[in-house]
Amino acid sequence: MPKLFLGIEEASVSFGQGEARVRALRDVSLTFEKGTLSLLMGPSGSGKTTLLSMLGCLLSPDKGTVFVDGEAVNELSEAGRTVIRQKKISFVFQAFRLFHSLSALDNVALGFEIRDAAASGREEMARDLLLQFGLADKLNLEPNELSPGEKQRVAIARALAGNPPILLADEPTASLDAEAGKNICKILRRQVDDQGRTVVVVSHDPRWEKFADRTITLCDGRVEEQVGVL
Ligand SMILES: Nc1ncnc2c1ncn2[C@@H]1O[C@H](COP(=O)(O)OP(=O)(O)O)[C@@H](O)[C@H]1O
Ligand SMILES: [Mg+2]
Repeated sequence: MPKLFLGIEEASVSFGQGEARVRALRDVSLTFEKGTLSLLMGPSGSGKTTLLSMLGCLLSPDKGTVFVDGEAVNELSEAGRTVIRQKKISFVFQAFRLFHSLSALDNVALGFEIRDAAASGREEMARDLLLQFGLADKLNLEPNELSPGEKQRVAIARALAGNPPILLADEPTASLDAEAGKNICKILRRQVDDQGRTVVVVSHDPRWEKFADRTITLCDGRVEEQVGVL
């Protein structure tokens, strides 16, 4: 059987001990094909963020296997997983997590620096990304001068610095109004269609469904339903 591009096999994660033990994921197997957008839904506490953290090499399962770009990453050392994360994976969050005292341009340029400190032309590359996302007149503004939708576009530009093949987004539109949210849906969909990236979005927001190739619903740490083409 060919190795998975991105996915987990029979993975379980629990937190705490004894009476307080919570089984966040129970024997979950899922594959995410290259060049697809998967939507992960489910009630609060169902294990969505835990699953995303595993795919992002931030958390190892108690048992089971995690594959990133065909490699079983849970067999690597912590340092090995950090390298995979730096080269292959980016995150986008509900709360944007921009650097407050830096301009939009510097936020994105720093994204390039974090991924590849030796790369030249960081500012040019950062500018190109921000222009693509319609932020040409916002380059020198700091996050507190931007609207929520603009902040999320800067955060996505920063996440794309260094061209990671995998983008993991946890509730990326939860802080945005309808129009700004739709714009983010389109931007991430374009990353799949034009750049062949693999995107996994956690969201309660039903407007994501028409932008996703597949919808996975988690409940109590298990996959309740999968709908879509994969
Ligand atoms: N670091 C942690 N320590 C203890 N319990 C946790 C931790 N992270 C998550 N949990 C628990 O694991 C379950 C799944 O959480 P999570 O993956 O955050 O769910 P979701 O993102 O779907 O809301 C919940 O019961 C949550 O309380
Ligand atoms: Mg969550």
